[in-house]
Amino acid sequence: MDTILTMLSQEEYVSGERISAELGVTRAAVWKRIRALQEAGWPIESAGKRGYRLGEHDRLEPETWRHLLQTSALGQGTILYAHTLASTNDELKKLAVSGATHGSLALCEQQTSGRGRLGRVWQSPAGCGLWQSVLARPALAPAKAPSITFCAAIAMCSVLRGYGLDARIKWPNDIVCGGKKLAGILLEAASDPDRLEYVVIGVGLNVLPGSVPPELTGQAACVDDFAAPPKRRQILVDYLQALEETLDTLQHSGWEALAGTYRELCVTLGASVLVSGSETFLGTAEGMDDEGALLVRCDEGSLRRVMAGDVSVRGVMGYV
Ligand code: BTN
Repeated sequence: MDTILTMLSQEEYVSGERISAELGVTRAAVWKRIRALQEAGWPIESAGKRGYRLGEHDRLEPETWRHLLQTSALGQGTILYAHTLASTNDELKKLAVSGATHGSLALCEQQTSGRGRLGRVWQSPAGCGLWQSVLARPALAPAKAPSITFCAAIAMCSVLRGYGLDARIKWPNDIVCGGKKLAGILLEAASDPDRLEYVVIGVGLNVLPGSVPPELTGQAACVDDFAAPPKRRQILVDYLQALEETLDTLQHSGWEALAGTYRELCVTLGASVLVSGSETFLGTAEGMDDEGALLVRCDEGSLRRVMAGDVSVRGVMGYV
C-alpha cells in the first residue's frame, strides 16, 4: 500500500514533515516519492506551507477508498487491484482456492477477458466502469446460491436508486434503467454436497460514457445517462456496504426477509416475457419459487419453471 496516497486521500492537506515522520525518511525522499506519484498520473499539488494535496481523480486504487469502508468483512480482507486483469472473477477464484477469506475483493480499470452469463463476453474498457468481484463464504446450502445473486442485485439496485436513478432488477440479475441494462452480475460457486465452499460475485456496472460498446447502445446505458455519478470508488464503497447488509440478512433471516424487496424492484414479475433457451415460449412471469426459479404462465395456460436461459421482458433492453 502506498502510505502517501493513503494519507493524501484521508485529509485535504498533508505536510511534507508529517509524511517524512510517518515514513521515517528525509523530506528530500518524500519529495522524490511525490514526483514519482505525479509522474504516474496522480494529481498531487504542492501548496506551500500547507503541504501536499491530492486533487480530483476517479481512480480505484484501494489506498484511495479503503478508509471510507464501514463494513465488517467485505473489502476488509485481501484486495487484488491491478490496472488490467483478464477477469476479476477468474482472479478471485484463484485467490479463493488458495484460501482467501470471506470479503476479499478483485477489481481493475479494465478487463481483457471479462465474462458475462451464458458464456457471453463482457466488454470492460478502462476508466469508465466498475468491474469488480467479491468473495463470499456463506454458510448456506448449494441450492441457495441463486439467492446470493439476488442479494447482489438488490444491493446494486438500491445503491443506484440512492443516486436518484429509477433502477430496477430484470430477473435474475440484470440492473436496468429506462429500459436499458446498466449492470450485470456473474455468480460462480464452488461447493461440496451440502455446503457452499465459496461464491464469487462479479458485477460489471457501466458508469461513464465509453463503458457501453457502440453496438449495444440500443440495449445498454451507463449511470451518467441518467444522473451525474459519484466517483467510482464511492459507488464501490456504497455497494460493498449494501451487499454486506443483504448477505447478512440472507444468512440470519433467510430469503423470505428479502423477497419482498426483490419483488418490488423487479421489472420481470407481472410482465409479458419471451423465454428462449432449450425451448422458446411466450408468457407472463407470475412469481418465483424458493430456489429463485421464475414461474411463467405460458400463453396456452400451463405454468413453467425457468431456472436459467434468457428471459426478455417487453419494453426492456430492446424487446418490444
Ligand atoms: C452478465 O450480465 O451477463 C454478467 C456480467 C458480469 C460482468 C462482471 S465484470 C466483473 C466480473 N468479472 C467478469 O469477468 N465478469 C464479471
